[in-house]
Amino acid sequence: MLGPLSLADATETEALGARLALALCERSGWVVFLHGDLGAGKTTLVRAWLRALGVQGTIRSPTYTLIEPYEIDGRSLLHLDLYRLNDPEELLQLGLADTPPQAGGWLVEWPERGGGELPAPDIEIRLEPDGLQRRVSISAGPGWRELIEPVFGFRITSVPEAGP
Ligand SMILES: Nc1ncnc2c1ncn2[C@@H]1O[C@H](COP(=O)(O)OP(=O)(O)OP(=O)(O)O)[C@@H](O)[C@H]1O
Ligand SMILES: [Mg+2]
Repeated sequence: MLGPLSLADATETEALGARLALALCERSGWVVFLHGDLGAGKTTLVRAWLRALGVQGTIRSPTYTLIEPYEIDGRSLLHLDLYRLNDPEELLQLGLADTPPQAGGWLVEWPERGGGELPAPDIEIRLEPDGLQRRVSISAGPGWRELIEPVFGFRITSVPEAGP
């Protein structure tokens, strides 16, 4: 596991999202699960991720649509928010098979709601409240960890030293 790391405000969550986007932008086939309670900062991170890849205009949260597709540089990305999924079986009706992770990548909020119908994650991001701030930790499977590690390394060394 990488982290936990403190994110002092939404700007830092966005910075992390942008760095993750750039770390993975050369690769396809990733499935990213975003764990965290309501308001933990999952959509904030995803918006910054998509923004960093050049998505312009309003980036809608798929709160009600459950799914929001993006075409970026020849890759197909999906942003999923499964909070309002009533039954994992409903996933089969969302047309996910048309845009498999191999076409680009999936960013999934509330993956717990997908039951066993989602592919296994390559990367899991956990956001937790920490007072008014957030704490983040990331687990990444083989082949992905080395891409993510530098993102954390950079952030950790960028934390100011404590003491006088
Ligand atoms: N590191 C942070 N410190 C403090 N506030 C933050 C931080 N990161 C994000 N926020 C704020 O927390 C809120 C998170 O909202 P966001 O919609 O991203 O949460 P979410 O996890 O997607 O929630 P939901 O489960 O409802 O989709 C936003 O107001 C955002 O500005
Ligand atoms: Mg959200």
